[in-house]
Amino acid sequence: MPCDFPLHRRIRATLAASCALATASAGLLLATPASAAPSAAGTAAPGQYPNYAPTPPMGWNDWSYYQCGENEQIVLANAHALVTSGLAAKGYNTVTIDDCWMAPNRDSSGNLVADPTRFPDGMAYVGRQLHELGLKFGIYEDAGTETCGGYPGSEGHWQQDADLFAAWGVDYVKLDGCNVPTPSGQTDEQAYYATYAAMSQALLHSGRKMVFSISAPAYFQGTPDWDTVIKWSAQLGNLWREGADTALGQESGAAKWSAISYNYGYNVGLADLQRPGRWNDPDFLLAGDSGLTQDEIQSQVSLWAMMAAPLISSTDLTKLTPGALAALGNKDVIAVDQDPLGVQGRIVAQGTGYNVLAKPLAGGDRAVALFNSSDQALTITTTAAAAGFGKGSSYQLRNLVTKAVTQTDGTISADVPPHATVIYRVGAGASRGLQPATAISWQDVSTAARPDSYLISLSDHGAARLSDVRLSVSAPKGWTVSPVSTRLGDVRTGAAAYAVVTVKGPRNAAPGTTVSEITATARYRAGSAGAGQVSGERTITSTVPYPTLSAAFNNVGVTSESAPTPGDFDSTGDSYSAQALATAGVTPGATVSANGLGFSWPTAAAGTPDNVAASGEQVTLSGTGSSLAFLGSETGAVSAPVTVTYTDGSTSTGQLGFPNWCCTPPTAYGARVAITTDHRDTPTGPANFGISYQVFSNTIPLTAGKTVRSVTLPNQPAIHLFALSVTP
Ligand code: GLA
Repeated sequence: MPCDFPLHRRIRATLAASCALATASAGLLLATPASAAPSAAGTAAPGQYPNYAPTPPMGWNDWSYYQCGENEQIVLANAHALVTSGLAAKGYNTVTIDDCWMAPNRDSSGNLVADPTRFPDGMAYVGRQLHELGLKFGIYEDAGTETCGGYPGSEGHWQQDADLFAAWGVDYVKLDGCNVPTPSGQTDEQAYYATYAAMSQALLHSGRKMVFSISAPAYFQGTPDWDTVIKWSAQLGNLWREGADTALGQESGAAKWSAISYNYGYNVGLADLQRPGRWNDPDFLLAGDSGLTQDEIQSQVSLWAMMAAPLISSTDLTKLTPGALAALGNKDVIAVDQDPLGVQGRIVAQGTGYNVLAKPLAGGDRAVALFNSSDQALTITTTAAAAGFGKGSSYQLRNLVTKAVTQTDGTISADVPPHATVIYRVGAGASRGLQPATAISWQDVSTAARPDSYLISLSDHGAARLSDVRLSVSAPKGWTVSPVSTRLGDVRTGAAAYAVVTVKGPRNAAPGTTVSEITATARYRAGSAGAGQVSGERTITSTVPYPTLSAAFNNVGVTSESAPTPGDFDSTGDSYSAQALATAGVTPGATVSANGLGFSWPTAAAGTPDNVAASGEQVTLSGTGSSLAFLGSETGAVSAPVTVTYTDGSTSTGQLGFPNWCCTPPTAYGARVAITTDHRDTPTGPANFGISYQVFSNTIPLTAGKTVRSVTLPNQPAIHLFALSVTP
């Protein structure tokens, strides 16, 4: 595994780990004698590092937003923003300067030196400024020979560096784990233990209380030693990064959400390994960064709080949006994170696309989070008993984001938008006169005769009956909802009322799919508690069919040899050669007869879109027959379902796949060769002569006696389609 992965790229721990391990196996020697190092041997273990972080650390770190672009001005501007935004007063009090703050070399005495351009006043100065603002000073170093960014590591300089940090007024040390050498005769795990134990001791002996953040476990994620490394990290320090880095500020919103989901996924199962003063760290909060929705921002903060994770923002705090500030600064959510019991929440229920977490809190309350990880709004339901309460009959639910307080007889339920998390503080026993907890849920009850139909239910989980209930449904402009508003009968406690509505997407929209959130809101009276309301979303995909396959063409598969650049059949600029196809008898609009099937080759001129890289497009088609035939090929090796809709509203499905366009056995997925060309076009012209680039035919069965109305193509862009036809 090469070690030169670019610094500014997101470094997945596994990659960094392989790099560190590869470096390690280069056989560099470590000063610590083997006998003193390994935890596995259980010898000479240093004592428990003091509990310098009784609650999960909070603050700001420059890394994921600025990477190596940080400097004194940026750090201090963000520190000021922590104070002026009020976040510092809410607990975000540690400002950590991550990698790249150093000059490339130690000085003649072996001391680390701040980069003279970016930190012209030195680190002690920065520390003093932070302290004057009432903040704490965090700094980054590495346990190896070099930091991940290639600056001097602490290896062999443990006490010298710890003393220097103490002299600079450092309060928090993040010790990364790139470039840790493994002495011969030791395992990597032993080598890491030795280095981190050495710094743990050195910090202790420095005479200054410094929170110690360990990165070692991140270099063992996915290996059998992961738990062991986390366990000794809990002895040597106060918190540890146990897995992959989160996304960087310049990455897309999708990449950020995927990193948040991934880091949540590896952190959520580690509750057994933490305790007060010993925290699992799933990396930075991205609230404030571009690309994330408010639901996603709030989800991350809420989930991190449920997991008692460090709350360390890494964004440009000088430009914080009101939404990001509200999510980061939500006192009630912070209180869940910082709860003195210091217990990491656990998953108490889960299903497709959702997790329910519960976290015990000091004083007997519990925090409960309903996390919708899916792309569709979901009604998520759990109970107080599942959340860990004993026998009881009434509970108070405080929604920590909306601040609504309701009473439930035990059911905890909400309609949760995609990627959102609803977080409650739940207490046993509820004061009188509270609004009952209610929830809306949606169910698709469409049939061929009544398409686009949804059953909306309003459930009453509290002790008060609902009366004067009115349900209304709102949809984006162009959508049709019927009825828009309706009266429901009274809803008894523990019961539900229902309405069926039809929701249709915009009629004159362009072909393709539109995904929208449709919101149902119920307004009611709840006895002496007075007027109340609840809303619930449904994610509805409206599809307008393409009139023909060619109307859906989205990929250029054929180019002329004299103009190959528009070709993108395989996403790297290669395409079929129009000249090679002509030699095989295939020109625009030609009839292709193969394997007893007949197709019309696209009429598109070379270099223009001529095939569909299929992603679930619906295409209008008519005809009656025994099978639906496709002319296509693949830039992958997959099959995926095709759905056929008939004029009576019924459907049938078939599995469709082709061989790769080149170089694989030509009968995969039951396909057969239809066209063979003997070379292809590349961005620089015709090439690969003598190699067969092929197009294939394949079929799926149709229901006998029914007339086809439309076909929904596979949702798999590796499958490319040039033509289709109904076979009698
Ligand atoms: C690793 C860490 C990051 C950051 C960089 C700096 O990737 O996991 O948090 O400190 O190194 O190079």
